[in-house]
Amino acid sequence: MNKTIIVSNRLPLQVKLEDDNLNIKPSVGGLATGMKSVHAEGNGIWIGWSGLTEEELNENLSEQVNKAVAKEKCATVPLTQSDIDNYYLGFSNKTLWPLFHYFSEYTVFESEQWETYKKVNQKFADVVLEHINDGDTVWVHDYQLLLLPKLIKDKKPNTTIGFFLHIPYPSYEIFRTFPWREELLHGMLGSDLIGFHTYDYERHFLSSVKRILRLDVKFNEVSYLDRIVKVDSFPMGIDYKKFENAALKHTNQEDDEKSELQRRLDDHIQSGSEAKMILSIDRMDYTKGIPNRIRAFEYFLNKYPQFKEKVRLIMLAVPSRSDVPQYQKLKRETDELVGRINGQFATVSWTPIWYFYRSMPFENLIDLYTSSDIALITPIRDGMNLVAKEYVATRTNQDGVLILSEMAGASKEMNEALLINPNNFAEIADTVKYALEMPLAEQKSRIEILQKRLKRYSVEKWAEEFLKSLNNTKQLDAVIV
Ligand code: UDP
Ligand code: G6P
Repeated sequence: MNKTIIVSNRLPLQVKLEDDNLNIKPSVGGLATGMKSVHAEGNGIWIGWSGLTEEELNENLSEQVNKAVAKEKCATVPLTQSDIDNYYLGFSNKTLWPLFHYFSEYTVFESEQWETYKKVNQKFADVVLEHINDGDTVWVHDYQLLLLPKLIKDKKPNTTIGFFLHIPYPSYEIFRTFPWREELLHGMLGSDLIGFHTYDYERHFLSSVKRILRLDVKFNEVSYLDRIVKVDSFPMGIDYKKFENAALKHTNQEDDEKSELQRRLDDHIQSGSEAKMILSIDRMDYTKGIPNRIRAFEYFLNKYPQFKEKVRLIMLAVPSRSDVPQYQKLKRETDELVGRINGQFATVSWTPIWYFYRSMPFENLIDLYTSSDIALITPIRDGMNLVAKEYVATRTNQDGVLILSEMAGASKEMNEALLINPNNFAEIADTVKYALEMPLAEQKSRIEILQKRLKRYSVEKWAEEFLKSLNNTKQLDAVIV
């Protein structure tokens, strides 16, 4: 039976060593959380990095890791510490990530890192080639593996290859600054289908292909060598039922089933302070607009002092890529801002910002989503942003307000949210006030429409549409032959 091979840098589970024992945790981030449900259903295999370097593993540990991941239908790509330094921390997260998110000032171009990026993409190709049979489909994910489609296609021209980019694709004017731009585009065009979250990203990609490679593009099809490469947008959804069911279960919880966090949240709600809760959840990443959000909240408290002691911002920031200096700087800046604002505004009975710097298990995320009156999601740039969708899915009473940056891919499908420009503090402050005062009927009418849309276009549907479209590319090739 033919299978689908999923390939991404990170596997859905991350292995760490703690006192020589393996500690296995689910991975964080939209790619892993979204694709996990898709992978669980299928008969395929997921290939990626385990989270441990070759230097950390001996033969015995290696065997244990392989066994543990095989149980989850996964296989690992062995990476050394130098690969991680130059390919992951280096080229992926100091070059491609900032460039594709329009942070040109953070982008470094280093040829040594580019060489390692190529070498590691080849390592991924080698593992894929070990597992592939004729007729299989390969689905490659994200910016760490832009060269992989071509590496597989060159060796196995008869396999069907799909590529999906989970981050924005920048405009031609940004992309053209990239020194190895031709090679990167050729790498992606090894695919039969290239998918993006939004039409804008798709349009930017096609524009780069036309202007840099001078290829013939008709609508969304690129004539490339003897093939047609199809390009399309597929906005990624969430496992809607999982979030809805968890929220329903949560509301029926007995007191003794409640988490520590939920008890604290309940205490807060019942304390009589009537403080409303505003929630944000992100990886600690400079693209997520965390300092802007805190400054906008400060601006709000100064502009509308009547809300002091009546509102609280709960910020969950998940540690991410903390070996990259820009991320360390962001962490320091965030700590300082939270400290300053809490110091300035706190009273004996009220702290304006509750700030958690850690990841939380799924049940606690549900505690946060279901207890919050408002979600305030303000990325400067974001490929999609699944947190916005998860918040909406857990509002089983149809109350709650989503405030969302227009720079997140999700905003394209979530017009009923209150859309804001993350750089406009005055607008954010006014929108927070509007959200706090929004009548229940308006909350319900907005959330209901959002929920209907999210339910229809779930992550399962997203994967199904992508794979259907990928399968249809076989017919395109047949026409050309
Ligand atoms: N998430 C998680 N653990 C946490 C906090 C968040 O697994 O402690 C998940 C969250 O539920 C969401 C994902 O991480 O599914 C974040 O995805 P998003 O698209 O919002 O942003 P990304 O991290 O991919 O940039
Ligand atoms: C985003 C990226 C993913 C990445 C995730 C977590 O969602 O699109 O490719 O896996 O962030 O980042 P990390 O660097 O920890 O894998």
